[in-house]
Amino acid sequence: MKRILSGVQPSGRPHLGNYLGAMRQHIEMQKDYEAFLFIADLHALTTVRDPELMKSQTFDLAVAYLALGLNPEKTVFFKQSDLPEHSELCWILDCITKMPFLERAHAWKDAQAKGKKEATVGLFNYPILQAADILLYSPDLVPVGQDQKQHIEMTRDIAQNFNNLFGETLKLPEAFIKEDVAVVPGTDGQKMSKSYNNTIDIFAEESILKKQIMGITTDSTALEEPKETENCNVFNLYKLIANKEETAELESKYKAGGFGYGDAKKTLLNKILEYFAEAREKHQELFPKQDFILDILNEGQKKAKVEAKKTLDQAKEKIGYI
Ligand code: TRP
Repeated sequence: MKRILSGVQPSGRPHLGNYLGAMRQHIEMQKDYEAFLFIADLHALTTVRDPELMKSQTFDLAVAYLALGLNPEKTVFFKQSDLPEHSELCWILDCITKMPFLERAHAWKDAQAKGKKEATVGLFNYPILQAADILLYSPDLVPVGQDQKQHIEMTRDIAQNFNNLFGETLKLPEAFIKEDVAVVPGTDGQKMSKSYNNTIDIFAEESILKKQIMGITTDSTALEEPKETENCNVFNLYKLIANKEETAELESKYKAGGFGYGDAKKTLLNKILEYFAEAREKHQELFPKQDFILDILNEGQKKAKVEAKKTLDQAKEKIGYI
């Protein structure tokens, strides 16, 4: 069985964009792969500076994955900061990586463009920590979104460099990027993102969810007129979770006229409630069980440790530490 590994930064309760962009794939893949998944809370320190927020966002993400169907018996599910091996391998890789190599990273270039003085060493080093995350577990595939492609390529280069210097040790992973993962539009039509305040929050109370969906931007075509589906945010969101027949049915209603955006939004709301009914129920049940969730992450830590320590010890041996 091939092995997969992925990491997700904790940014609180996930929205539809998080789910369709990455989480759904992580959960589906546990059926066919030996899976490792972790909450990237070390990476989160590049932006989160509030201990309560760090805790709650990590917990929220863990509960969300479990509610959405992640099975901790199938997926080794853990928290990055529980394993010092990540930081340790990161330092080793730091010492063999040249500055100009990291300066090419898109994320770093963006940060530089925003303001040189604000960018931290941690942010600069972000790709090396990510390489350490991956290489410790020797996965065959790393399922990620398109935006992470460069990080996986950098991971391969870093591993190759280590192997050239010290001998064959680290396994080169492949990115696994589903081409059909669409950009999920937010309620204002821009990419759905917490920072744009345009999200649809899958675990929000029904009244809030309703408000978010009713607030989706649409054009001013009158109720009785036929409508375009192509650039309609409501339709584009519906299409991402409804099946083919349901999508075709909504499309014909748009084309026929006499069907307003308010009706379309109600259809979308009902679809979302139906699609996530089980997950929303499970979320309510799991959310108060904090110890139970933390136990799952602790169990994951133990299983992850076996793999991480094995690789780190091999690297340390090659370097001459052991
Ligand atoms: N950088 C990734 C993101 O922002 C998160 C991440 C950290 C990750 N370490 C990883 C993803 C290792 C895959 C593998 O989405």
